[in-house]
Amino acid sequence: MLAVPGSNPRFLEKAQTLAADEVFLDLEDSVAPTAKAEARANVVGALREGDWGGRIRAVRVNDLSTHWTYRDVIEVVEGAGEHLDAIILPKVQDPTEVVWLDTLLTQIEKTTGLDVGRIGIEAQIENARGLVNVDAVAAASPRLQALVFGPADFMASINMRTLVVGEQPPGYTEGDAYHYILMRILMAARAHDLQAIDGPYLQIKDVEGYRRVAARSAALGFDGKWVLHPAQVEAANEVFSPSQDDYDHAELILEAYAYYTTVERRGAAMLGDEMIDEASRKMALVVAAKGRAAGL
Ligand code: GLV
Ligand code: MG
Repeated sequence: MLAVPGSNPRFLEKAQTLAADEVFLDLEDSVAPTAKAEARANVVGALREGDWGGRIRAVRVNDLSTHWTYRDVIEVVEGAGEHLDAIILPKVQDPTEVVWLDTLLTQIEKTTGLDVGRIGIEAQIENARGLVNVDAVAAASPRLQALVFGPADFMASINMRTLVVGEQPPGYTEGDAYHYILMRILMAARAHDLQAIDGPYLQIKDVEGYRRVAARSAALGFDGKWVLHPAQVEAANEVFSPSQDDYDHAELILEAYAYYTTVERRGAAMLGDEMIDEASRKMALVVAAKGRAAGL
């Protein structure tokens, strides 16, 4: 999921060539306060005139504690609603914020003749209140498609003593400072059938660091992660795809289990040294689906 500042026309152009599944044009924290209005116009232009291929097209608006949000939504959706798949709402603290956006989108869709409900919502969880309320946030609207972790704002909001996003805070040696937060978001997403997306890694020159941090959320079951730079795109696609060996093994389990259950009418069977049953089939389906999506 590629982040592109709405105030930078060169990046808006370049983003159309990168191998990201989703691109989001930002009006929030990567755009200076004095450039917000200009960025809205750039974003509308880029959505209308750009060639985005099959990429999901999203726009991140400003959060509801600012005075920019309503105008962001109205200008972008009225100006380019038919070229837009989702709005990203940052710093969500409780479900009423998502309900507000849902209502506004419905009004704009009706006014402009778009199908009601066609524009989705992705909610960023990036402060303590958002995390405490994450289940209610996840249930707040049928438009919701994803919960997105915002590690930079989150670490600031809980007063974590660190300046490096995604890495363990200095002095913390007892485990993974992100584990609880990632799992909490993942559980809410899965309970409500939403995607779970990990946020940015800001040390853009350190691709190995990106890989290491991305591997953490990918292993837990997250569906993807932000990328801020072309160098991170390839790493993300690799880390979030299963290895060829795991993919082949998953397909083998599916094939073998189909044979055992239908031809031999057995619910559990041995595949080499491993016992497989219906739950193994479900685990294999997860890995196989990711592998197929990655074209393995
Ligand atoms: C992203 O918005 C973050 O705060 O990490
Ligand atoms: Mg943020």
